[in-house]
Amino acid sequence: KKKLIMDVDTGVDDAQAIMMALAAPGVEILGITCCHGNTPLKNVLKNTLRVLKVCNRLDVPVYRGCAEPLVAHKRHAGDFHGKDGLGDAPDPDAPGLDAVQEEKAALALIRMVNENPGEVSLVATAPLTNLAMAVNLDPSLPEKLKALYIMGGNTESRGNTTVCGEFNFVADSEAAYVVLDRYTCPTYIATWEFSCRNSLPWSFVDTWLAQDTDKARFMERISSLTRKMVQTERYQKELVSGTEFNSCDTYAVAAAIDHTLLTESEQVAVTVELQGTHTRGMMVLDHLELLKKKHKAIIMKTVDLEKFKQLLMNALKMKKLI
Ligand code: BDR
Ligand code: CA
Repeated sequence: KKKLIMDVDTGVDDAQAIMMALAAPGVEILGITCCHGNTPLKNVLKNTLRVLKVCNRLDVPVYRGCAEPLVAHKRHAGDFHGKDGLGDAPDPDAPGLDAVQEEKAALALIRMVNENPGEVSLVATAPLTNLAMAVNLDPSLPEKLKALYIMGGNTESRGNTTVCGEFNFVADSEAAYVVLDRYTCPTYIATWEFSCRNSLPWSFVDTWLAQDTDKARFMERISSLTRKMVQTERYQKELVSGTEFNSCDTYAVAAAIDHTLLTESEQVAVTVELQGTHTRGMMVLDHLELLKKKHKAIIMKTVDLEKFKQLLMNALKMKKLI
């Protein structure tokens, strides 16, 4: 089985990513580490447990990570994901936080990777604070990882949070800098523009949510606010023209689940701007190789949308396929 660890800030699209991974045949999720981001950490933990509950998978360990960025001021995305981070569609029977593990996220990450050297793929769909902490505590972590999949950054200085910045990289720019500098394992990046360009039509979403399962009903409830928001003028400005349903975080997990999904990519050294007035948090691509970095990231360009749709459909089906 493919071993995955997910680092999330659950978030509607993080929920979709977790459900995709849980439903994928041949995938074992060793644990889910939680980070501040779309919503305060407490909500992230609760939302993650809610997702696991609807999937009947509360056996997957959930770890408490960083509640604050390394240096930056905290920021959340409540106007888009809802104040509670999950579309403001509460579940009165949500599991309590006593289900969260005692061990802290960065330490759990280090332990799980060290128990399975060379076998674990790490999927990060949140600000990268936990990953930066983990590599500071154990600098040998990247060489023991099979691969790292990140949702974050941008390729055309196009922001969805600031003029030039994507949310995860803006929410903790220093952490993004550290991670892109220190994680020398194969690193796949699903950027903001990439996810816009590989979006799916809303007609697919209607078919997706029409499945007669508790998971589909849950998804319909938690995603209706973001669906409304994305169609407002304010959010349309963020999108690459033509973008419809853009489940950013699921691309990172989909690539980790099935490599054949990735049809086009580009290898280039990357870093993060930490100074600029308008560009702080922007990912910088070093095409001229002026930074003399040995490690190149793999920037995702296109995916096989039929395979991607299949993974999404499976995410809301009743049972795991295998
Ligand atoms: C990223 O920011 C969050 O709002 C989403 O969950 C995704 O991880 C997109 O910029
Ligand atoms: Ca996220």
